[in-house]
Amino acid sequence: MNKRIAIIGGGNLGTAIAEGLISSRFCKPADITITKRNTATLQSLAKKGVVVTPDNAAAVRSSGLVILAVKPFQVADVLGNLRSAFTQQHMLASVVTGVLTGELLDILKKKIPVCRAMPNTAIAIRESMTCLSFSHAVPEQVDYVKRLFETVGKVAVIDEKLMDAATVLGACGTAYAMRYIRANIQGGIEIGFDAVTANLIAAQTVKGAAELLLQKGTHPEQEIDKVTTPKGCTIAGLNEMEHQGFSSSLIKGIATSYQKIIKG
Ligand SMILES: NC(=O)c1ccc[n+]([C@@H]2O[C@H](COP(=O)([O-])OP(=O)(O)OC[C@H]3O[C@@H](n4cnc5c(N)ncnc54)[C@H](OP(=O)(O)O)[C@@H]3O)[C@@H](O)[C@H]2O)c1
Repeated sequence: MNKRIAIIGGGNLGTAIAEGLISSRFCKPADITITKRNTATLQSLAKKGVVVTPDNAAAVRSSGLVILAVKPFQVADVLGNLRSAFTQQHMLASVVTGVLTGELLDILKKKIPVCRAMPNTAIAIRESMTCLSFSHAVPEQVDYVKRLFETVGKVAVIDEKLMDAATVLGACGTAYAMRYIRANIQGGIEIGFDAVTANLIAAQTVKGAAELLLQKGTHPEQEIDKVTTPKGCTIAGLNEMEHQGFSSSLIKGIATSYQKIIKG
């Protein structure tokens, strides 16, 4: 597979992927071509040696992997115009939300290897959770695309039928976590902290809690057991949160987001 990479749609996500690939040294800047109609906003990437162009077809022809990062309503037009540029040697990786592999292949009128990727906004700081699904890809291609997205965070390979669920847990999940942190800040101010200090304590505490799970592979309840002294303040607060519907409200929120996504 030609290891040059084309990113079609150099917006928030396309740019973040290019930055991740360069800073992790996954490939040389000159091996990346990134496109958008107004290329003025891509000058910092051009200065690093990335090929910047409005010519999508030229970008596809010069590359083996094509990352599609335009808005969902732009897919039919953009991919439709690239039909003749794609060959069986290409692999398409789409980060576009809600456009199925079958729809992408219908537009292309070709059966080529396709990956769907669902990252989240932490991709901007290379801490994304990215769920990937593959169709018609050989193990070497799967491994290559996994390593690519590992340059901007953690990766899980899933069945495409779980992509909506991945959108809720992984992408909407950032908003749920922000609300949890915001509530901690509000509580922290009520018990005496200024807003800036409360923000720092709440955000770093959540980051540390998440790192405990990621690095030690433990279950949250094991870590909770370590901080809940019998008759202590932590268990008293936790139980009150549960009496008020804490876990239940989160589960219901996740299920509601999922229903919204599948019913449209
Ligand atoms: N942001 C996220 O965290 C996130 C997470 C998961 C999935 N997604 C998905 O990722 C996709 C991109 O999201 P985004 O936030 O990066 O959007 P965005 O910032 O609007 O980027 C889309 C880019 O596509 C370019 N574009 C439009 N028409 C084009 C064309 N004909 N040829 C080449 N480039 C073209 C636009 O630039 P010009 O107008 O200059 O052409 C724009 O910069 C969306 O489908 C979204 O659903 C985003």
